[in-house]
Amino acid sequence: MFMASRIQRRAFSASARNLSRVTVLGAAGGIGQPLSLLLKLNPRVTELALYDIRGGPGVAADISHVNTNSTVKGYDPTPSGLAAALKGSEIVLIPAGVPRKPGMTRDDLFNTNASIVRDLAKACAESAPDAKILVISNPVNSTVPIVAEVFKARGVYNPKRLFGVTTLDVVRASRFVSEIKSTDPRDENITVIGGHSGVTIVPLFSQSKHPELSSNADLVHRVQFGGDEVVKAKDGAGSATLSMAMAGARMAESLLRASQGEKGVIEPTFVDSPLYRDQGIPFFSSRVELGPNGVEKIHPVGPLDAAEEKMLEACLVDLKKNIDKGVDFVAQNP
Ligand code: NAD
Ligand code: LMR
Repeated sequence: MFMASRIQRRAFSASARNLSRVTVLGAAGGIGQPLSLLLKLNPRVTELALYDIRGGPGVAADISHVNTNSTVKGYDPTPSGLAAALKGSEIVLIPAGVPRKPGMTRDDLFNTNASIVRDLAKACAESAPDAKILVISNPVNSTVPIVAEVFKARGVYNPKRLFGVTTLDVVRASRFVSEIKSTDPRDENITVIGGHSGVTIVPLFSQSKHPELSSNADLVHRVQFGGDEVVKAKDGAGSATLSMAMAGARMAESLLRASQGEKGVIEPTFVDSPLYRDQGIPFFSSRVELGPNGVEKIHPVGPLDAAEEKMLEACLVDLKKNIDKGVDFVAQNP
């Protein structure tokens, strides 16, 4: 009771200052449902719009009974429902699409998810061209360039407002380190750069409080392939949903904090980046300072040790292929 009323009071003061409408596309899925619930609990969110090709209104009715001040509405799975879900939104999170089964790579999802993300991106470009778009659907290394190409084709692309959500890699890295070191994971700030699949995920332990961990091959492998651990354990029933919901809610919260005036909010995230553009890699995840317009400042990767330099080389090879694949897809299937 006490907690709820305190949250409600905070929600009221937040809404008095700022109105923040957030849309979730794919809201009835394994990620979408807990993500929507966490957004409902966030006092910075004043309006929540939930869309899915099935089940959006049901999830919205359920979540709308949670006693925080934000309003929740579910939208019909029609073009007009999608347009209405997007209108006026500050942030659009996209966890729509199929998840992996054991034995699959994220790239194996491309054939199904590329067109889902392309079509949702078209709707976003039409109805919410100024929103910050947070892409969760895999393969993130390719789906983010897909969204960019769709926006470019419509003349509404703003590179400061497109984000591939790689927060789960950061969350995992801090948790796995805290297990080894018996520390509080909240005190473990591990930068993860590159992209979001296998060897494109490059944790930089040399920059952490435990630089010696960069030679811990098991730990590095666990961060790079943490997703596989969950896919295997779920045994055909999908991939990470709950930890991903938490990570997605954290990324949305960071953007809302920044847009509501907080300075120094930094998250590693996969964005349109100058860092490796000269090598034909226009998207890269590094520490990004967030601001009211989205990307405020892209930090360089900083000093790497020899092992990390080697990982980065392998990352760039795969990343280029993944990005090119997304760009080519839109060129051939506009
Ligand atoms: P899920 O199958 O449980 O849910 C996906 C939802 O998307 C379903 O409810 C489905 O109806 C909906 N959907 C499908 N097509 C749609 C469309 N055109 N418009 C709106 N909704 C649509 O899957 P999940 O476990 O929630 O995973 C979703 C995606 O997120 C997968 O691609 C998965 O690989 C990815 N993922 C990414 C990360 C990350 O770190 N970025 C982490 C975990 C999962
Ligand atoms: C993850 O890292 O858990 C997600 O990308 C889902 C997956 O396919 O592993």
